[in-house]
Amino acid sequence: MKPLILKGVRPYGEGDPTDVLIRDGVIAAIGSVDDEGARIVDGGGAVLLPGFVDLHTHLREPGREDTETIATGSAAAALGGYTAVFAMANTDPVADNEVVVTHVARRGREVGLVDVHPVGAVTVGLEGVKLAELGTMAKAGVRVFSDDGHCVHDPLIMRRALEYSKALDVVIAQHAEEPRLTVGAQAHEGEQASRLGLQGWPASAEESIVARDCLLARHAGARLHVCHVSTTGTADVLRWAKARGTEVSAEVTPHHLLLTDERLATYDPVNKVNPPLRTAADVEVLRRALAEGVIDCVATDHAPHAVQDKDCEWSAARPGMLGLQTALSIVVETMVRTGLLDWRGVARVMSERPAGIAGLADQGRPIEVGEPANLTLVDPDATWTVRGAEFASIAANTPFEGMELPGVVVATVLRGRVTALGGRIAE
Ligand code: DOR
Ligand code: ZN
Repeated sequence: MKPLILKGVRPYGEGDPTDVLIRDGVIAAIGSVDDEGARIVDGGGAVLLPGFVDLHTHLREPGREDTETIATGSAAAALGGYTAVFAMANTDPVADNEVVVTHVARRGREVGLVDVHPVGAVTVGLEGVKLAELGTMAKAGVRVFSDDGHCVHDPLIMRRALEYSKALDVVIAQHAEEPRLTVGAQAHEGEQASRLGLQGWPASAEESIVARDCLLARHAGARLHVCHVSTTGTADVLRWAKARGTEVSAEVTPHHLLLTDERLATYDPVNKVNPPLRTAADVEVLRRALAEGVIDCVATDHAPHAVQDKDCEWSAARPGMLGLQTALSIVVETMVRTGLLDWRGVARVMSERPAGIAGLADQGRPIEVGEPANLTLVDPDATWTVRGAEFASIAANTPFEGMELPGVVVATVLRGRVTALGGRIAE
C-alpha cells in the first residue's frame, strides 16, 4: 500500500494546520513531511480525530438483509467517520453462538471498510431464560455481550452473566428496561403521551434496572455497560454508582441528545425508538452528563427498518432510527456548538472511551507517531442537509430528514487506507 499524507490537518482542532504521514498503517511522522510516492489527501485545515468507535450498531445481517447488510452498514459507518463498530446480536438467527459471531466477523473482514466486532447475546435466543455460551463466544473473540432490544431482566441471570463476564474479561451491555413496567408502552410516560393517547414507557423502568445492575455488578466485582441512557434519573444513578467506585460505563445516543417527545405530535413512527424520546429537561441533563463523563460515550443505536415497518400506524411500527451517518453532526450541534465539548472531548466520547470500554487495543489511540492510523477528518464549519435516501444504508428511517446540520466527515482512514473520502466510499 502506498504511503498516505494528510495535508493541512489540525489534530484535535488544535494549533496550525500540519501534515501527517502514514506508512504501513501507522502514523510515521507529524509535521512538515515529505514522501514522493505518497497519496495525498488535502485536509484544508480540517480537524483530525481518532476514528470513531460505535459500541451499538444494528447491522441486521443475518436475517434482515432487506434493511441493512454488513456491507451497506459498513459503508454507512465509514462515511460517518467510524473505524470500528459493534454489531448487535438481535439478528435472525440470533448471535448467541460461535457460528453466527464468527460469520459476522468474517463478513466484516471481507467487506473491509470498518472493523466489525460481533456482539454476542447474553441469553439463548435473547429470551432471558438461559445463559448463552459466553465462554465459547469469548474464545472466538467476542468482547461485548448484550441482549439489546431486550433487557436481561431476571436478576439471577444478570448476576451470573456479570460473574462470567468478570472471569472472561468481557463486558455486559444492558438494555435497561424492566419489561413489567413497559408492557404495551409506546412513548415516554408523561404529558405528551397522555395528550396523544399513547401508553407510557416510564423513566423508572430504565432507572430501576440500572440501579439494580450497578448493585449486582459491584457485588460481582464485574464491569457493567449501560446502553442508550435516556433519563435524568439514570444519570443520577450513574453518578451515584461511579462515586462509590462501581465499574460502570454508559452511552447516550445522538437522538437522545437532540430530540424530545414533542416530536411525537405528528404520530410519525420515524420518531418511535426504544428507549423513547424523553423531555427537553432530560435532553439537557444527558448533554451535561456526557460533558462531565457521567455518561462515557456516544453510541448510535443505528437501527435500520423496512418501509413497511415504519410507514404504518404508530403502535404497529418498529422502534429504531438510523444513526451512523448523522452521529458526528448531532454531536457537533448538541455538544460542540453549545460549548459543552471541545474536539478533545469529541475524541473522548466518540473514540477513546468506547474503544476502552470494549478493550480495543488499536482504536481510540492518540494521534502520535507510532500509533495505528485509524483516523477521521472532519470539516467543522461545513454544513449539509440530511437526505435519508442518499445514505449508504438500505433503510432510510432517519428522524433528521431535511435538517441542515454542521460538521462534515471529509475522510476516514482505517489502518492507513482511505475508506471514505468526500462523502463517497473510496475505491
Ligand atoms: O429502538 C430500538 N431499536 N431499540 C432497541 O433496543 C433495538 C433496536 C432495533 O433492533 O431495532
Ligand atoms: Zn436497546
